[in-house]
Amino acid sequence: MSTYELILSRRTIRQFKPIPIARAILERIVNAGRLAPSAGNMQPLEFVVVDDREMCRRVFPCLRWAAYIAPHGNPRPGQEPVAYIFPVINLGIREKGYENDVGAAVENMILTAWEEGIGSCWLISVERAKAAEMLGLPPDYRIDSVLALGYPAERPVIEDFAGSVKYWKDEQDVLHVPKRRLVDVLHFNRFR
Ligand SMILES: Cc1cc2nc3c(=O)[nH]c(=O)nc-3n(C[C@H](O)[C@H](O)[C@H](O)COP(=O)(O)O)c2cc1C
Repeated sequence: MSTYELILSRRTIRQFKPIPIARAILERIVNAGRLAPSAGNMQPLEFVVVDDREMCRRVFPCLRWAAYIAPHGNPRPGQEPVAYIFPVINLGIREKGYENDVGAAVENMILTAWEEGIGSCWLISVERAKAAEMLGLPPDYRIDSVLALGYPAERPVIEDFAGSVKYWKDEQDVLHVPKRRLVDVLHFNRFR
């Protein structure tokens, strides 16, 4: 698949198959995050990967899923993520202004995972203090967010935005994700 096709086909996944992800693939995903653009090339990000079953079980309650349709977007029992990647900020390198670095790194990781057939959900709703304690994170590091991973057990679809940004589930439990149309967001040369 071309990069463009990957981008078009990618959706946030919140239901996963109970199949582990090989360490080599997790390393490949983090490597894609490591090599993302970084402002001033300062590279304040490090990555904590959780793939141990018991650790995954403990991380899960720290997360909040699909707020618009809660609790119907939660991973169902047996369909929880099988791995997590926490992008953590080395505060000794940067204390603020790292947010765009995180965005670039996480999107690289999302697309690299998708290329491997692995779905993901990027979550900002993380109980950071609890998760940091669990990960044994030193005080000079901060959890930004987390990327939850696993082989997809759902196939969300996009549809044209029609007045609401709220994603929704139909009777077949398919997630529909409204997206603003290209003609509504594209401006050549001048805004008007
Ligand atoms: C910065 C960021 C934070 C997000 N945080 C959460 C979250 O805490 N929980 C969640 O279920 N989804 C979260 N999402 C996923 C969005 O809900 C999802 O990207 C959006 O509904 C569009 O769907 P799509 O990714 O399939 O295009 C987050 C996405 C981004 C970019």
